[in-house]
Amino acid sequence: MTEADLESHRNDVAAELRADVREGLTAAQKWLPPKWFYDAEGSELFEKITVLPEYYPTRSEREVLAARAVEIAELTGAHTLVELGSGSSEKTRLLLNALTAHGTLESFVPMDVSETALAEAASAISADYPKLEVRGVVGDFTRHLQLLPGTAPRVVAFLGGTIGNFLPAERTEFLRSVREVLDEGEWLLLGTDLVKDREILERAYDDAAGVTAAFNRNVLRVINAELGADFDPDAFEHVSYWDPGHEWIEMRLRARRRLEVHIPGADLVVSFAEGEHIRTEVSAKFRPSGVEAELAAAGFEVTRWWTDSQQRFGVSLARSVRA
Ligand code: SAH
Ligand code: TRP
Repeated sequence: MTEADLESHRNDVAAELRADVREGLTAAQKWLPPKWFYDAEGSELFEKITVLPEYYPTRSEREVLAARAVEIAELTGAHTLVELGSGSSEKTRLLLNALTAHGTLESFVPMDVSETALAEAASAISADYPKLEVRGVVGDFTRHLQLLPGTAPRVVAFLGGTIGNFLPAERTEFLRSVREVLDEGEWLLLGTDLVKDREILERAYDDAAGVTAAFNRNVLRVINAELGADFDPDAFEHVSYWDPGHEWIEMRLRARRRLEVHIPGADLVVSFAEGEHIRTEVSAKFRPSGVEAELAAAGFEVTRWWTDSQQRFGVSLARSVRA
């Protein structure tokens, strides 16, 4: 992106945050979309989450990728690796190693809303893989998939269980939109966290060191910084619980007392009753049959399904077929 592109992108982002805050915080049940966690600070906090003893998903997914990267390279012969919600792209290096060794890979296209995380990852990867064309795209994977460059066959990687952060209807739409930008025979590599014991799940989203709580509250700091709001993050308690009906972890920020918050950038004053909460994120957990069915409905056929040795996390490699 040029400087002018980046500038207009930042204006779009501010307008979008304003619209999301107005919609979410005036709703009867208050909510905020999860992508606003990830400013520079939020991305750093997420990286800290990935190494917490309680947060198993990163380690479990890495185990699968380490074991299967060569097979993924052989099956796909990818020329382009696209990564959505790429963050630090740390685990992705396992794929880059296998695909470059296989000799087919020409370009890597990480896409993320977090400009700082993306810039850091793209420059580190460029330095470590000098023959690879690295083209980072700052963007929203629910809106900007048509901007993705690269020659076929492409593998679109969507890791970290981030697909679980959509609500079910959004997830359906997202998978269709990925299928739409791919040609028949191109690939989706999808990481999905699996349904398991409540204790393991709840601990993963409420660690002893309080990093996840800080991450959750970061969304309030983002609104303060971008829209001049006066949220006191400490007035909100981090709550995460397993909802067995929806099979998702739900993350909330609960007001410890009655509060009034001014958000001049959104032209809004928001009142909270004591104990009232904002839903900040869901993290859905999956069953293998569910993943396969959702992929099939979107026009993907599962070629391989792998899990780690403790069956905590699933990775599927799916081929796009005629829908
Ligand atoms: N893939 C990495 C990071 C997962 S965290 C891993 O597996 O560890 C989720 C990532 O998705 C963050 O980097 C966040 O900035 C990004 N993200 C969240 N919502 C997004 C959106 N709507 N569009 C693009 N990126 C998004
Ligand atoms: N994609 C991650 C997940 O669902 C995001 C995440 C991890 C997260 N921990 C969090 C989001 C805590 C909000 C709060 O596992």
